[in-house]
Amino acid sequence: MNILFVASEVAGYAKSGGLADVAAALPKALKKRKNNIKVVMPRYYSIDKFKLTSLGSMGVPMGNWGEFWCELFQDKNNKDIDIYFIDYERFFGRNGLYDDENGYAYADNDERFIFLSKASFEVAKKLNFKVDIIHSNDWHTSIMPTILKSKYKYDEHFKNSATVLTIHNMQHQGKFSTKILDSAEVGWEAFMSDNLEEFGGVNLLKSGITQSDAVSTVSPKYSKEITTPEFGWGLEGYLQKRELLFGILNGVDYDEWNPAIDKYIAKNYDIDTIKDKILNKRDLQKIFNLPQKDIPLIGFVGRFATQKGIELIAGAIWDLLQMDIQIVILGSGEKWAEGFFSDVASRYPDKFATFIGYNEALAHKIEAGSDMFLMPSLFEPCGLNQIYSLRYGTIPIVRAVGGLDDTIKNLDGYTQNPNGFKFYEASKYALVNTVKWAVDVYYQKEVFDNLIKNAMQERFSWDKAAWKYEKLYKLAILKRELKNE
Ligand code: ADP
Ligand code: GLC
Repeated sequence: MNILFVASEVAGYAKSGGLADVAAALPKALKKRKNNIKVVMPRYYSIDKFKLTSLGSMGVPMGNWGEFWCELFQDKNNKDIDIYFIDYERFFGRNGLYDDENGYAYADNDERFIFLSKASFEVAKKLNFKVDIIHSNDWHTSIMPTILKSKYKYDEHFKNSATVLTIHNMQHQGKFSTKILDSAEVGWEAFMSDNLEEFGGVNLLKSGITQSDAVSTVSPKYSKEITTPEFGWGLEGYLQKRELLFGILNGVDYDEWNPAIDKYIAKNYDIDTIKDKILNKRDLQKIFNLPQKDIPLIGFVGRFATQKGIELIAGAIWDLLQMDIQIVILGSGEKWAEGFFSDVASRYPDKFATFIGYNEALAHKIEAGSDMFLMPSLFEPCGLNQIYSLRYGTIPIVRAVGGLDDTIKNLDGYTQNPNGFKFYEASKYALVNTVKWAVDVYYQKEVFDNLIKNAMQERFSWDKAAWKYEKLYKLAILKRELKNE
């Protein structure tokens, strides 16, 4: 199949979270399965254009504003995926992806991502790529089906194109004023019908949900959760009505996340050499100046956002620090959390350490060096870190939501092959009690070793997920064909 895959971030080039991991690994798996897939993303400042090859300039129609000229680049050195970059200084010539250095969203995010969406159509045309599937991801590119039905309706290149939207997160929907309608050129009827409009403004994710031929989310449980008010962020009604809504669990790129070959960690190990995992714990303790003790070390890596349960961790911190454990936290985001965790680290240097910022190597070292990995998310569409943790024999302690619930098998006495600890209530009590339980089990060597063994044997292959996406693409194509008849 010919697939045009568009995302605002792709790992290896620009990343703020799991979307980037998926946007690199899924196309790689689809390409391996003999699909012709082209990935398009913006060329932010973090991407060195001198390592890329220019394919020349390209005009992108932006309604009343006329045509914007950008440059198209390709990374010819990337053997895993065919990836293209839209270089347009005015919109992408910045360090941040979505926010400025103070954490405020850029005021022109609407225009920036409408532009990316439109430019992606132009990339297909420039490359003479006859597209079977337009695969958009999250709100940034979820207006593409509506653009297809208007601006590119009669374009040869898209005559047979069906559309698929993957929702990685319902919280962020791309809500803007109607001023973007002109540059989007989708026509006012798209606004007046129940497509883009929400409370007099525009909701881009809503448009993707209502207009794509098929919609997927990144775990089966999340695909159900989002049809409820608790997880639907106001769009649950549309998701309840939506046919062809599926949950396809993300996989893991085991070329990147595998303790046997991980280039970032102090000592490689696998299930047969699990005794070497301790050397990574020592390394982590050394990096963070923690005493080299054999007590449970609990790791956390993630965005400091309410989604990730950071308020729960903050609320539980004094109770957690009463226990004989060590905690290492890597992340950035909400300023209060950055300040709070730094403060705790300075008061309890023997028990608690944090690195504020984004650090790829450290994320790997924490996966390898921790005994347990904490993810108390309020909601979690899929979650990748708990799946990485499993591969590293680092036992996840998670709240049973979304992908966390789908991937972690609780040590509850009746679940087969348990690989972690789960709690249900979103409270600090539930978190503290579950950590206490996990710490208790840590000292029951046989039970804990069994958890590690089960965890390390789990495989979440992208090949299987890619196979499911192919089925989804076929359904989308079928739906489009039947509708056109
Ligand atoms: P989300 O996409 O909601 O942030 P995921 O669990 O799907 O959550 O993916 C997060 C990804 O981002 C993982 O690959 C994780 O290792 C990485 N990550 C998050 N924060 C950091 C950080 N501060 N430093 C390094 N990697 C990080
Ligand atoms: C989102 C979700 C996360 C998911 C990731 C990749 O950022 O918050 O749960 O794993 O997308 O799909």
